[in-house]
Amino acid sequence: MNLAIVILAAGQGTRMKSKKQKVLHEVAGKPMICHVYDEAKKLNPLQTIIITSQQIASIKQCLGDNAEYIIQAEQKGTGHAVAQARESLKEFNGYVMVLYGDTPLIESESLKKLVAYHIKTNAVATIATAILPDPAGYGRIIRMNERIAEIVEEKDADDEQKQIPEVNSGMAVFKSNDLFEKLQQINAHNEQGEYYLTDVTSMLVAEKSLVETFELEPHEILGVNSRAELAQASFIMQQKTITKFMDNGVTVVDPLNTYIERDVQIGTDCIIYPQSILKGSTKIGEDCQIGPASQISDSEIGDGSEVQFSLVSKAKVGQGCIVGPYSHLRPGTILEDKAKVGAYSEIKNSRIGPNSKVPHLSYIGDAEIAEDVNVGAGTITCNYNGTKKEKTLISKGAFIGSDTMLVAPVKVGKNAYTGAGSVITDDVPDDALGVERAEQKIIKDYSKKKKK
Ligand code: UD1
Ligand code: MG
Repeated sequence: MNLAIVILAAGQGTRMKSKKQKVLHEVAGKPMICHVYDEAKKLNPLQTIIITSQQIASIKQCLGDNAEYIIQAEQKGTGHAVAQARESLKEFNGYVMVLYGDTPLIESESLKKLVAYHIKTNAVATIATAILPDPAGYGRIIRMNERIAEIVEEKDADDEQKQIPEVNSGMAVFKSNDLFEKLQQINAHNEQGEYYLTDVTSMLVAEKSLVETFELEPHEILGVNSRAELAQASFIMQQKTITKFMDNGVTVVDPLNTYIERDVQIGTDCIIYPQSILKGSTKIGEDCQIGPASQISDSEIGDGSEVQFSLVSKAKVGQGCIVGPYSHLRPGTILEDKAKVGAYSEIKNSRIGPNSKVPHLSYIGDAEIAEDVNVGAGTITCNYNGTKKEKTLISKGAFIGSDTMLVAPVKVGKNAYTGAGSVITDDVPDDALGVERAEQKIIKDYSKKKKK
């Protein structure tokens, strides 16, 4: 299909009162423009063009080099913005879909239906609309004999027009030639002094070209112009995402107190307890118990694992593992199957082997821990000497006594022990005990003497 998509993202968004461009504000953890772009890409358009302001760098940072960017030097309105794509689409003859970067809730399935309807009816333009309980702020759809006649912006509307609940979503499909021809004829004679894309509609209707409307669900068309609408969009996306997980066999104990981003994956029969936050590219296997109060970002959690009251970031947790309560898995952590990291332990850039345990109050950084290792309470890998990070190796079956300081680089051999409270600076051979501490003295009747 000959489809090109133009996404408008150049507006500063004065109503946001922000230093940051509006479309870069995040809805459910992802900039609005990325939501729109990701859904647009699912239609496999021949070209995807992003209209940006001079602040192109930050948008490019977020969408990468695959999209085509055109700078709209001055923001003179949505019609002027779309017109910037003319040169790039000079050779293109097909359908142009216009999307607004500030309507992040739109889903590709609806966009596909919109295009299909446009093709079926052979319209010159198809405007996606919605009926809203509170249409304030949106352009209104003015109908004559039931057919769309024009779109009137809120600021240009009279009191009677403001009563109309049917609004312009901002999303539309056009035949490319007609669109660019009409964009050359629009003017800025309106309340805001802008070139409105919406004026193309009345021009097409006036010359008796077929303009169709296609109704979308209200929750998909929310246009974000303020911080309150940003929060509203995040909330709607959250609830849709969580409902989707529940429909796919995940128990979410308290949906209103759980935050799960759209790109997260969760297997069946997981239970997500309240106040859990699952972000980014996180992937959770089946039968896991997550939460309460855990934040997992860009991490993998294997089948049947539990994460309670913990923070997990860019880590990989195997199957049947236990994390928490109050554990911190930092980037580069790998827990192999059935490993355990318990209360108040922090792991960074380290591998904890199968069946190994770091159950209490430890810091493990830049370490390789093999299988069946028990790390006693309070053990610390002293991995940083002030200039360089060094590695700690703990071999299979080793038993690290409580409160051991492992001064890296250092290796503890297979089935070796370290004595509680030792500062281990030299390697401990296989099967040996490494102990470093002064011998205990007993001073008899000490308390009696002291009292005297
Ligand atoms: C627009 C529509 C309105 C519709 C509403 C839906 C027009 C004239 N009005 O109003 O009918 O109900 O969206 O949300 O189209 N932009 C540019 N360059 C510009 C101006 C805007 O790229 O010069 C971009 C913005 O970044 C934004 C989008 O176009 O992503 C829409 O602009 P905005 O100012 O938010 O228009 P609305 O007032 O919301
Ligand atoms: Mg808007």
